[in-house]
Amino acid sequence: MQELFATLTPGTEEWRLAGLLDPARLPAHIAVIMDGNGRWAKLRGLPRAAGHKAGVEPVREVVETCARLGLECLTLYAFSMENWKRPRAEVDTLWRLLRYYLKAELPRLARNNIRLNVIGRPDSLPAQAFRELEETIARTAGNTGLRLNLAINYGGRQELTDAVNSILSEARRKGQLAGLVVDEEAITNHLYTAGMPDPDLLIRTSGEMRVSNFLLWQIAYAELYVTETLWPDFRKLDLLRALVEYQKRDRRFGGLTMGRTHSEVTEQWAETVPAGEPA
Ligand code: IPE
Ligand code: IPE
Ligand code: MG
Repeated sequence: MQELFATLTPGTEEWRLAGLLDPARLPAHIAVIMDGNGRWAKLRGLPRAAGHKAGVEPVREVVETCARLGLECLTLYAFSMENWKRPRAEVDTLWRLLRYYLKAELPRLARNNIRLNVIGRPDSLPAQAFRELEETIARTAGNTGLRLNLAINYGGRQELTDAVNSILSEARRKGQLAGLVVDEEAITNHLYTAGMPDPDLLIRTSGEMRVSNFLLWQIAYAELYVTETLWPDFRKLDLLRALVEYQKRDRRFGGLTMGRTHSEVTEQWAETVPAGEPA
């Protein structure tokens, strides 16, 4: 948090909003559906590719701000499995931009101690983009700060399907297929996000009120924040607005207590109510 203040100018709206934040109640994990690049370009009479290009700067700014806030995880929806339905030229532009981003950002990821990770099925990407992605992941693997997940060729249903198949093949390998019982923990541990906290806050830009096959399992209790701002216009100020709004929410997780994360509240219950017994 201190690191963020060092980059803000006193008296600005960003400074004011950052001052409203309680550092102890920041989300551990923010997920973002970066939407509206095409509409941004259309409004300016530009080709859709120009919107995607303009969408790189907010990625940079949001990533750096989350690192400075000391968050654990940031997941950005960059390309859905359904996005293959778009014209070939647009899809190719996205891979070119991904390669440009990786190359340009590596020093910044290193400087901010950010570890890159990919969720989805990135092996279907064009070979060069896939290779460069793997390289950047390997080069940042030793970083211990923010974990940046890029959701690329990602689908929530596909992730759940992959998790189930991975549970099955593990059990088969161990000779434990007969009588196999799958529980929530097993599914959670076989998702692409295994070992990471669930998103506390899901932001979607450009006003669309849907989740578009994003993190279906993990967002069970995420706070939703939809802004009309188009992704290429999204800046630190917009992120701070979302965080201030997030901290106003009363997160009950089905109970009555206000808690910060699902696991914290579950722990509180464990102390007071015997599991499975009506209170
Ligand atoms: C989001 O912007 C970027 C990707 C899905 C890759 P869109 O390209 O979906 O922009 P709109 O929704 O058409 O404005
Ligand atoms: C969701 O946006 C996917 C990404 C942001 C990568 P879309 O623009 O593809 O979603 P829909 O088609 O509006 O649901
Ligand atoms: Mg869209």
